[in-house]
Amino acid sequence: MPLLHEVDRADAITLLSRLLAVGVDFKLGDQVTRKRLTPSEMRDLLVTDLPEEPAGVDAVVRELVDTVLPMCNNEASPRFLGFGHTGADLAALAGGLLALFAQQNLINQSFAAPSATLTEIAVIRWLRELIGYDNPTVAEVTTVWDVGGVTTYGGTGSNTTAMMLARENIAPGTLHRGVTDATKMHIVVPAGIGHYSVKSALEWIGCGDRIIEVPTTGYRFDLSALEQALRERRGEVMAVVAYAGDSRTHTVENLRAVHDVTRAVDPRIWLHADACWGLMCALTPVLGSKLAGIEDFDSVTVDPHKVMDIPYAMSALLVREAGALRSISSYSDLIMQEDFAFGQVTPFIGTKEWSSAKLWAMMRAHGRPGLADIMRRRLITTRTFTGLVDDHPRLLRLNIPDMTAVVFMYVPADHDPGRPDIDRINDLSKRIHARILEEGRWHFHQFSILDDTGRIRRGATLHPLRFMANNQRITESHMRDALAYVTGLGRELEQR
Ligand SMILES: Cc1ncc(COP(=O)(O)O)c(C=O)c1O
Repeated sequence: MPLLHEVDRADAITLLSRLLAVGVDFKLGDQVTRKRLTPSEMRDLLVTDLPEEPAGVDAVVRELVDTVLPMCNNEASPRFLGFGHTGADLAALAGGLLALFAQQNLINQSFAAPSATLTEIAVIRWLRELIGYDNPTVAEVTTVWDVGGVTTYGGTGSNTTAMMLARENIAPGTLHRGVTDATKMHIVVPAGIGHYSVKSALEWIGCGDRIIEVPTTGYRFDLSALEQALRERRGEVMAVVAYAGDSRTHTVENLRAVHDVTRAVDPRIWLHADACWGLMCALTPVLGSKLAGIEDFDSVTVDPHKVMDIPYAMSALLVREAGALRSISSYSDLIMQEDFAFGQVTPFIGTKEWSSAKLWAMMRAHGRPGLADIMRRRLITTRTFTGLVDDHPRLLRLNIPDMTAVVFMYVPADHDPGRPDIDRINDLSKRIHARILEEGRWHFHQFSILDDTGRIRRGATLHPLRFMANNQRITESHMRDALAYVTGLGRELEQR
């Protein structure tokens, strides 16, 4: 099996260029999935023994292109309406490709990632600036502890890092000593809309499942319930987590109020904002005010791979006080004790891919006005879809979109708003979604959620569909066709 240096340079470039063309065509494709098999059919096709005979690069490439890729979902398809993680930004793809070849390891700077480390620092500073954290001057950045953030492979990693910071804040030295009193390591989250990563983080870092769920209204904390919970559990809470965009409706929390309520009860509590989605608000002055108060939170998670069209995987945890990261630092003589070695400040990660190259390229290519324009276009798409849902007699919208997510449900013709048949509405919605997945022509996301706006029945558990307007290939005719398809399925299925 040849290494790069063992083959003809031109042949290597031809092979890789061909793959580049395949990749571009894949992303430009219209379909969500070209070929659909059941999981067990795919298992039987793909879970094979290690070959005794070498296949050779050409055969492997053919297999990848002809057999595996057609069964991959294309999130950049304008028919993939549930998420919008397109990974289709050209500059980001260029940055990612270069990083793949450059093989930098940001665990150490001097010999493993000399320049990549500094571009990563630039990216973290841009993200900090966008969400309103102060940055020191460039000349004042003399170590990784002056940067005020780390990149991770996802919101889960960033949230877990934040929970470690909260733990060290309430019980300094736990990193070395171990957890001795977990009863003061509870975390307060909004009920029903939290992301599982926070609960998992608590379990992973040895605090156990100590989640305190506080009731919400309109997918935001009920502030008096929050205050009451914090007073009742005084001394037991190490962090309050607020969502600048919850996973389902992407509603942005009233961050200023959550901050003020929490600090008034107990200023030692760590305030963490999960802005995986909320980063979108920071891209445009039109939505910027929704994040008011986030700059006073102790830490913020952002997930550029969700909202900035960059290929997976890249997230960041940003901290208000840059020095806080010292409390979770690792010391080893295998990591250079040098100023800019990110290996010292990034828990759980050893070898550290240059994943930020994608975002660095994307943000530099667009600049501030370009980022705002991306959001301007997404908001127009959101408004159009919202209007189409609202105008349709069989569709009900559950959320007031803060960003680009529209959560909606098909209701049967005999739906009585005074006496909604929740089981029937849910059953219909689940069957619509199952058919959408089975047919693979379109994609909407589905989840369970409490009706917190009272559109159907307050407090009922609903199984709606979700549209996201992030994919800039979505046109009005896609939206009309997709809704015609959903309502057509609804009409067909409600007869059965
Ligand atoms: C609000 C929120 N936080 C955290 C995460 C976890 O992000 P990741 O899947 O990148 O680890 C998600 C994922 O959907 C999310 O919606």
